[in-house]
Amino acid sequence: MSKRKPFIAGNWKMYKTSFEAVETARKLVRILKGINHVDIMIAPPFTALAAVYEVVKESSVMVGAQNLFWEKEGAYTGEISPGMIVSSGCRYVIIGHSERRQYFGETDCNVNKKIRAALNNSLVPVICIGETEKERDEGDTFNILDKQIKMGLEGFSPDDLKHVILAYEPVWAIGTGKTATSDQAQEVHRFLRSLIENLFGKKIAGSVRILYGGSVKPENIGELMLMPDIDGALVGGASLDAEKFAGIINFKI
Ligand code: PGA
Repeated sequence: MSKRKPFIAGNWKMYKTSFEAVETARKLVRILKGINHVDIMIAPPFTALAAVYEVVKESSVMVGAQNLFWEKEGAYTGEISPGMIVSSGCRYVIIGHSERRQYFGETDCNVNKKIRAALNNSLVPVICIGETEKERDEGDTFNILDKQIKMGLEGFSPDDLKHVILAYEPVWAIGTGKTATSDQAQEVHRFLRSLIENLFGKKIAGSVRILYGGSVKPENIGELMLMPDIDGALVGGASLDAEKFAGIINFKI
């Protein structure tokens, strides 16, 4: 079990209208009443952020966005600025999700700019990294993660690192039902923590939260949370249902 406060986040991806998102958020607030040993965040689509915030603002559930653009404002059709996200009630933003990298061409350099923009606007970035199946099969997992971390976090100080959360999401485990075993995940989390120690020092490595993501469900969360370097989860599919997501948040180890 990790020494850090668990953080469990739900990434709703491109699911739920504003109405549906509000319904799920209402259920979640009802079920999770009184829970404060876990930090809880949900990331609905942009169109539902403000409405969901109104529902959860008095509860322990916090709201995050799934992406942002780094510019303050301008002629960037279809993009959303950090200020817009903050004004919708968000405290968090997911950055560099593998689906953004895979389908929208997001690079480590984009990720770096987005992290900077988030921090400049007091948003906590949840920074996603992870290897594909091919990269794992070729024995490249640690090289890939090393590159994603070094490029994504280039130019940041230990002080900046106090306000970020990392999420290890092996691409082959996202939405596939194939979870990394808790030992596989722990091995990578330990590697990531030692990489952070080399780059930013022991103190930051000891405090930074590293989440696991990829087919997390109520049935496997307990065993993942037993691991000393796993501090929580970034949940996709299973976060769309309030009861299932609450089952993850109420994990027993
Ligand atoms: P999944 O998605 O839980 O549906 O595998 C995880 C994620 O994409 O963050």
